[in-house]
Amino acid sequence: MQITLRKAGQKPSPSQTLVVFVSSLDDKKKVSLPKMDKDLAKRIEEAVNDEAFSGKTKETLFFRQANSGGYHHLLAVGVGSAKGFSAESARQAAAHAHNSLRSHRIESAEIDLDSLMRFGKDKAVLLGAFTEGLRLSAYEFVEYKSKKDEKPPRPGKIGLLISGLNKSLETSFKEAEILAKRTNHARWLGDHSGNMLTPTLLADFVKDQAKGLPLKVTIWDKARIKKEKFGGLLGVSLGSSEEPRFIIMEYNGAPKGKKPVYFVGKGLTFDSGGISIKPSQSMDEMKHDMCGGAAVVGLMLALAELKAKVNVVGLVPATENMPGGSAIKPGDILVHRNGKTTEVLNTDAEGRLVLADALAYANESKPAAIFDCATLTGAIVVALGNIHTGFFVRDDKLAKRITDASEHTGEWLWRMPLVDFHADDMKGTHADLNNISSNKGAGSSTAAAFLEQFVDKDIPFAHFDVAGTAWNISNRVPYAPKKGASGVMVRTFVELAKSYF
Ligand code: BES
Ligand code: ZN
Ligand code: ZN
Repeated sequence: MQITLRKAGQKPSPSQTLVVFVSSLDDKKKVSLPKMDKDLAKRIEEAVNDEAFSGKTKETLFFRQANSGGYHHLLAVGVGSAKGFSAESARQAAAHAHNSLRSHRIESAEIDLDSLMRFGKDKAVLLGAFTEGLRLSAYEFVEYKSKKDEKPPRPGKIGLLISGLNKSLETSFKEAEILAKRTNHARWLGDHSGNMLTPTLLADFVKDQAKGLPLKVTIWDKARIKKEKFGGLLGVSLGSSEEPRFIIMEYNGAPKGKKPVYFVGKGLTFDSGGISIKPSQSMDEMKHDMCGGAAVVGLMLALAELKAKVNVVGLVPATENMPGGSAIKPGDILVHRNGKTTEVLNTDAEGRLVLADALAYANESKPAAIFDCATLTGAIVVALGNIHTGFFVRDDKLAKRITDASEHTGEWLWRMPLVDFHADDMKGTHADLNNISSNKGAGSSTAAAFLEQFVDKDIPFAHFDVAGTAWNISNRVPYAPKKGASGVMVRTFVELAKSYF
């Protein structure tokens, strides 16, 4: 799908569809129409009088062969009440417009963005959000279908018409394109099955994508992982015939002396549970267990393409968790990068084992902050469903920085508790730590408390559990695929990283 930004008021190109946005008014029988061709406006008004359209969110109205104002067809998209219209409303309006154009098999359209901009103040922000909404809606994972679906094709060309086009609008448009493209990359990685995206292939993808970008990628193989004393990552990989990989992505957009920020992502390309094997129902979903890692990959590629003025390092410990003959067994003790030991009481609590080494490694360079993102616990799904990503942080100031970032991107976050009691529950019996809690409940918090043992107390640290939000969120946002990876946290991480400018 090609999206171009154009000055409003130019002659429409032939055989086009015009898209306009309409808000509902409190008096239910009326809508607020934008400045537009009289004949086209009349058609919408007639539909409103017939009570066929009221401008509510999600409502769309399509007029085939409307033939006026230089346009063939007309699509009106409702945005609901103009009160409280936000960047997220623009993102969602874009999705409703895109999905409706697609269902009507429209190949090319011009979108009157002025009709949307009238509902908000900051044009650059709304344009960025709208562009993201379009690009994210166009994502689909059809790689492995040999026959095309009956589904209508995506629109091929979209023109965004806007008055007062200037540099800041153009920049916002370009940045949104990058953010959405890299979010779609994170989805694409997440949607790949275990056999099609092994740790080796994930590392190859990152290397390949980084070509031509100011992003240094270093890949450690199994021998190097062992040599570097990543006992958790190595231990989890032992039950699989696939080799693990440790992916290091370094981006320097700020002067060398500036401390970097680290992002660590769980990269389990498949999690069977290992010897503590998972039930077979929905086990296929565990191909998504690298979505935290995919978010970090998306973040790093986006930062490099945006030329953000920050120093950031992305780390992805990648492996499968399988129950092969050499697999770690319940009771086994692993020695991590920093010398701390863990007794593995449940091999399905493997995410924390591989993250521990990566966190300890990040900690060695005394960075400005360390963040990690992981599909870590089923418990977070119980607590927050697929609505909020749970985050865990001791420091209130850092919590505020995180929520500020998410307010820009419209991704919903919820701060979860993390206190010393949680850490007490992870204390080891025969080793320093156990990999599961010695008490019932609070499984997401005790997992977070395990992770923080690998970061020095004076280094700001936050953990994001995306087990509930990393896939199947189309019931929450119309720009996510019906089924599949959501690409959650890429956009918020970019915002968070940029806050260290
Ligand atoms: N990858 C899973 C967590 C998960 C569960 C992600 C559901 C997405 C949806 C993780 O490795 C895991 O299995 N965690 C265990 C930990 C438990 C054994 C302490 C869990 O949450 O059940
Ligand atoms: Zn697991
Ligand atoms: Zn897992």
